[in-house]
Amino acid sequence: MKKWKLGLLTALLALSMTACSAKETSAPEATPTPTAEVTATPAPTAEPTPEPTATPEPTEEPIVVTETFQSLFAKYGIKAGTCLSDQMIKNKKCTSIITEQFNSITFENHLKPEAVLNKQESIAANDLVVKFSATTLSLLDWCKENNMSLRGHTIIWHSQTPDWIFYEGFDKKNGLVSRDVMLARMESYIKQTFEQLEELGYIDMFYAYDVVNEAWMEDGSKRDSLWLQTIGEDYLWQAFYFADKYAPESIDLYYNDYNEQFKTNTLYDFVQTLVDDEGNYLIDGVGFQAHLYTEDSLTDYFTTLEKIGSLGLKVCLTELDVCLGSWPVIKPATEENLLAQGQYYYNLINGILQRVEEGKVKMDSLTFWGFTDQLSWRKERSPLLYDRVYAPKYAFYGALQMKEYAGFPEE
Ligand code: GLA
Repeated sequence: MKKWKLGLLTALLALSMTACSAKETSAPEATPTPTAEVTATPAPTAEPTPEPTATPEPTEEPIVVTETFQSLFAKYGIKAGTCLSDQMIKNKKCTSIITEQFNSITFENHLKPEAVLNKQESIAANDLVVKFSATTLSLLDWCKENNMSLRGHTIIWHSQTPDWIFYEGFDKKNGLVSRDVMLARMESYIKQTFEQLEELGYIDMFYAYDVVNEAWMEDGSKRDSLWLQTIGEDYLWQAFYFADKYAPESIDLYYNDYNEQFKTNTLYDFVQTLVDDEGNYLIDGVGFQAHLYTEDSLTDYFTTLEKIGSLGLKVCLTELDVCLGSWPVIKPATEENLLAQGQYYYNLINGILQRVEEGKVKMDSLTFWGFTDQLSWRKERSPLLYDRVYAPKYAFYGALQMKEYAGFPEE
């Protein structure tokens, strides 16, 4: 390990980075988003220990950081993204990190079905009605003021989707609607999503939209959901058909999923079915959520990336975070494990940038699922770039391709 102590580096770097200038003692609590966990394998066996707080040592020299994620990724034509919550835009430390480091935003929760579908108005209109909440609008305004590009997330999903949308009269006391009614609701929902973004003056900010999230299982079967039950086997094709019909050309349409490296063949076969009568793709790209672990194989990951990339579709990392250890055995946030995380981030991003440069993969954006462990949905697993007091970790330097500070052994 380097003789450098990261705590010191961090403290000195902080002098030149307004974003991380002070220790946060009362950072807001993370609000984990309720969603399916990323695999169906056993729960973690080791309890992560609290992340160590590094202590500055007075004799070291500051690290000079000349890149940001935006500036580094821009060299490869890639936008640098983070998820965004209403908590973050109220926190100055967060907004200064976001505006400095990132130019692409995905809302962590506020464009999900449960956030945009309005029950009372749906009952009144006898149609599924999209109505953006005040919080969604405030996030959209913040992005506009800060010149952010947006990935819309997400329209059709089994999770964070209200059940009432699938029932007669929008009432769960009644039976499920017929295929025809649900198809009409789906079409209306997708149409209104794009129409309203247009009417409200936000549509030009969007360059990509996740039309469908997490529809496939690792065994190659379709995930059971009320979309599948009401519409039937072709509901995914129908979703892309409607999205292609109503989204402006400028917005790329994505299928987004987790455990992508274990679903390679399924995804490879599936996306090729998303074509119109003339054989043209109804889809533009595949979103790899990239909720990874430091012991996940990078070779497998790159194989999946190249295989999906070989179809000519775009491939974006949409929710990157890297937990310590492996799914069955989570490791605690010791110095050693955080060093391994720095190396992992370095190798992952390095391999991706190389493949983009070689033309093996077309990638528009690479999005981290947040930036600070403090606000991560997997806070206890320390998966992000900055620690809980907003100081850069080895992971930060690794992802930023500053190999010297990424946690590799001294040469
Ligand atoms: C999935 C979803 C995201 C989010 C995460 C957890 O990956 O796609 O929107 O809910 O789970 O934060």
